[in-house]
Amino acid sequence: MVLLVNTPTENGSAWRDMFLKLEPSLEVRVWPDVGDPADVEVVFAWRHVHGDLARYPSLRAVFSLGAGVDGVLADPAFPRQVPLVRMVDPNLGVLMTEYVLAAVLRHHCELDHYHRLQQAARWEKRVRPFAGDRVVGVMGMGELGARAAGALLGLGFSVRGWSRRIRTLPGLETFAGEAGLTAFLAGTQILVCLLPLTAQTRGILCASTFSRMPRGSCVVNAARGGHVLDADLLAALDSGHLSGATLDVFETEPLPAGHPFWSHPRILVTPHIASVTSLPTAAALVVDNLRQWRAGGALRNVVDPDRGY
Ligand code: GLV
Repeated sequence: MVLLVNTPTENGSAWRDMFLKLEPSLEVRVWPDVGDPADVEVVFAWRHVHGDLARYPSLRAVFSLGAGVDGVLADPAFPRQVPLVRMVDPNLGVLMTEYVLAAVLRHHCELDHYHRLQQAARWEKRVRPFAGDRVVGVMGMGELGARAAGALLGLGFSVRGWSRRIRTLPGLETFAGEAGLTAFLAGTQILVCLLPLTAQTRGILCASTFSRMPRGSCVVNAARGGHVLDADLLAALDSGHLSGATLDVFETEPLPAGHPFWSHPRILVTPHIASVTSLPTAAALVVDNLRQWRAGGALRNVVDPDRGY
């Protein structure tokens, strides 16, 4: 089976070496050294050049290096009848949970506020509520959101979840769809976005959403930059309606020099590091999925291209 590693922004040779070590019977090529495009049966993709996926007449599956498949689906040349497999690796959830806990605790303990006081050499104390009196709202109840929500519950926060369709998870108050959004937002003091980026969720972190949250609330976005309307977020922070934001993802990455987020006193910018695919464990999961597929089983973690995740 010929597997093409098509990850122009990543170290494609390192992935090839790992795939070959795990499954020597594969023939692994690294884009742009494709050879005869008609040989390619499986593409392992991340930030591929749009249009490229239309070049492989024998293509039978596309595997995404990342959990989010919005980059593949945004390519109009992606052959939608070909199964698209997202990355489901428990390690992605472990890393994401650490980031979410760090960001939520930073807002909960007002570390950004104390950082500003320190710059003015001011020694001033504030009372902070117990975690149980702080409501954290997690948008997206998939692999990442459900795990992060569980860890927040473990710290004693009052946690609620929002998703497209209703999910019931122990200890969580859950809301769904457009109908549940207002009630979800009305109580949320720290909003964590872990949604997939789809036509329905693009721009969901906008003025209308912020205005339905209580004054002084915070936003954490570790999903996709496309979820946020940047100007709306800046306006909500500048008016004092929102008190802070932690942002790991941006519409354009790297975040362009001079973007107002870089220097905003109420925004913490991190460079898309919330959760990063770990090569050895992720490659093993891809190889395992391929092996049992070649043996006649069904591919695991195939996305629905119409739903977008
Ligand atoms: C990273 O952003 C991913 O989708 O895994």
